[in-house]
Amino acid sequence: MATTLLLVPLLSLPHGVNAESLSSSHRDWDKPIMLDRSGGFQIGGTIITNPNNTNQTLSCDHGYMEYFLPWEPRQTSLVMWHSSSTQVWQNRWDGGQGYKDMFLRRGYPVFLWDGPRVGRANWGCRPTTYIPQYRDQGNFVAWNFGPSFMNWWPDVQFPTNDPGAWQQATSARYDEFDNYENVLLHAHAAAVAADSGKVGKSIVYLTNSAGGLRAQLTAIRSNTTNIKGIVTYESIGYVFPSGLNITQDARGGFGPIVVPVEEFKKLAKLAAIQFVWGDHRDPTDTYVQQSRLCAALINQYGGNAQVLMLGDDAGLKGSTHIPFADMDNAKVAKLLDKFLERHGLNRFLGKRWRF
Ligand SMILES: *[C@@H]1O[C@H](CO)[C@@H](O)[C@H](O)[C@H]1NC(C)=O
Ligand SMILES: *[C@@H]1O[C@H](CO)[C@@H](O)[C@H](O)[C@H]1NC(C)=O
Ligand SMILES: *[C@@H]1O[C@H](CO)[C@@H](O)[C@H](O)[C@H]1NC(C)=O
Ligand SMILES: *[C@@H]1O[C@H](CO)[C@@H](O)[C@H](O)[C@H]1NC(C)=O
Repeated sequence: MATTLLLVPLLSLPHGVNAESLSSSHRDWDKPIMLDRSGGFQIGGTIITNPNNTNQTLSCDHGYMEYFLPWEPRQTSLVMWHSSSTQVWQNRWDGGQGYKDMFLRRGYPVFLWDGPRVGRANWGCRPTTYIPQYRDQGNFVAWNFGPSFMNWWPDVQFPTNDPGAWQQATSARYDEFDNYENVLLHAHAAAVAADSGKVGKSIVYLTNSAGGLRAQLTAIRSNTTNIKGIVTYESIGYVFPSGLNITQDARGGFGPIVVPVEEFKKLAKLAAIQFVWGDHRDPTDTYVQQSRLCAALINQYGGNAQVLMLGDDAGLKGSTHIPFADMDNAKVAKLLDKFLERHGLNRFLGKRWRF
């Protein structure tokens, strides 16, 4: 106790985190993070040749995987797949503990993924253009902080009195390239990563927003049994089997994507899939309904898929579009603990982690 009290003033606090918020959440942090190793690698991708000078090539369209391997690792790797930026997995909105540190403390190997052309994998094989779009106000609504800009939901799990927190949230975004071609490109690179063994032999994807559709396709494209589960937080986009009257929409990056039934059945081979929604998402929302239909179809083929409404099913109120960064993310994480436990994905490996 005395040591703890002495240490607090000595810590250099991250910007925007005051001593009070650190000490109040300190109880969650009483276990150190013990890492065996951390690092990163490029994976997937291709090499293209300059048609005007065959001496010149470009290595492009790979993804980037950053990894953190606990000293006493569990078997299952958690691949944290953002839509907007890896930052959402790193901290709670107020700078407090995010999913990355929470699950490292629990012993899960954590992988932070930037798909091809995105973030730290931005050498694409095709031209890309960044056009400033004045998106801050739209971002506020899209992330379900409130019904209109700076009009917060009264119960929102966000530090609304901290303008620095809002600035951090909206500034952290980077280009997502939400179009059909990129969804396929991202899924392919992620499937190569999953099949490589470098992410382990028991992988659970944690995804947010547009990452959910990519992860579903990844499980379909993978040729190994390394992928064991998917937990999507507010997935905007679903895969469906052909033969039903569901029309594929390949105009944007949000599906529906229709695949042959035999391919769709691969989703039914996973240990478990969970589609999670916050309480400010209307049950009549197109994507909520798609998640219910997708889960029902997976289960019809003998799979194990479930829709989890954080409000109605778990009593958590005020969730944003990114519940794992919310002020109550410790409670959201407990639901993930239960999911991993229930499906036997929480076992310890019993040895150091090897690639
Ligand atoms: C190859 O040369 C053509 C004609 O000069 C030019 O239009 C094109 O942009 C060049 N392509 C590359 C990849 O440099
Ligand atoms: C390509 O490399 C070869 C061998 O070094 C050289 O002879 C040729 O001039 C190079 N071509 C160009 C377009 O630079
Ligand atoms: C899986 O195998 C098929 C058929 O060989 C291939 O087309 C596909 O690219 C493979 N997927 C990956 C991720 O390598
Ligand atoms: C297909 O369309 C019919 C008629 O509109 C409808 O009854 C049925 O529920 C639809 N099936 C699916 C899987 O959406």
